[in-house]
Amino acid sequence: MNAKAIVVTSGKGGVGKTTATANIGAALAKLGEKVCVIDTDVGLRNLDVVMGLEGRVVFDLIDVFEGRCKLRQAVIRDKRVDSLYLLAASQTKDKSSLSEHRMKETVRQLLEEEGFDRVVIDSPAGIETGFQTAAAAATGALVVVNPEVSSVRDADRIIGLLESREIGEVRLIVNRLRPAMVRRGDMLEVDDVLEILGVKLIGIVPEDEQILISTNVGNPASLNSSSNKTSASQAFRNIARRIKGEEVAYLVFDERRGFMAGLRKLFGGF
Ligand SMILES: Nc1ncnc2c1ncn2[C@@H]1O[C@H](COP(=O)(O)OP(=O)(O)OP(=O)(O)O)[C@@H](O)[C@H]1O
Ligand SMILES: [Mg+2]
Repeated sequence: MNAKAIVVTSGKGGVGKTTATANIGAALAKLGEKVCVIDTDVGLRNLDVVMGLEGRVVFDLIDVFEGRCKLRQAVIRDKRVDSLYLLAASQTKDKSSLSEHRMKETVRQLLEEEGFDRVVIDSPAGIETGFQTAAAAATGALVVVNPEVSSVRDADRIIGLLESREIGEVRLIVNRLRPAMVRRGDMLEVDDVLEILGVKLIGIVPEDEQILISTNVGNPASLNSSSNKTSASQAFRNIARRIKGEEVAYLVFDERRGFMAGLRKLFGGF
């Protein structure tokens, strides 16, 4: 993706936006990029927790927007990866100082003055001010969707809004895929989702209990080099590499338990 400012969004809540932001941001930083992840979920604020940095937040996005601190003071450096930084959301419920103009200016400063290669912006659920602010500065988008009808419907709505903002590069992440359920016909297949939404795929992330475990300890799974080739952490690392333009084969889920026919059909060419 050419986009240096990428918003992670979905419409529907709880589908994995924050998880994806933390894991992809961390993986991009591991690949050598200087990355800032920004939490725009004002009021809820949990990207800092997922990244294990909550104890270090002094200033946040709203402090920057309201001029209470310099941008540089609010950007927290990760303890594990040198080139990974976080700009946290505020816990205040007051969203009145969220502003598209301030967001654009903040992202511009990060990219042009602070030397960041990439900014990954975690959007709140819904299509209100928080989402609008998150999308304001973005030139690319990762739409996270779960393979279920309500999530696909909301993603469709969000994709329309992203297109009306002329965000050029919109890519889809299908998260929490459960191969066994797809095989039984109890879950949408990836190619069904792609057909409905009509945007390019950039990753398929399986349901993986490691995500819950790593979230609880505040250590993004993509930072652990898991030997499991079909893990969510591997899937997130692959997404980071695809963002950087590499062609990476899609994960194929365990053959002995039966291939996901849809996946094979779809990615046989890789
Ligand atoms: N691939 C996965 N496997 C297992 N659990 C997952 C996976 N992705 C996300 N989860 C879990 O789903 C829950 C919701 O994830 P997350 O907070 O990232 O969603 P969100 O879209 O940011 O939610 P919100 O809309 O509330 O901001 C979390 O408990 C997370 O650990
Ligand atoms: Mg979230």
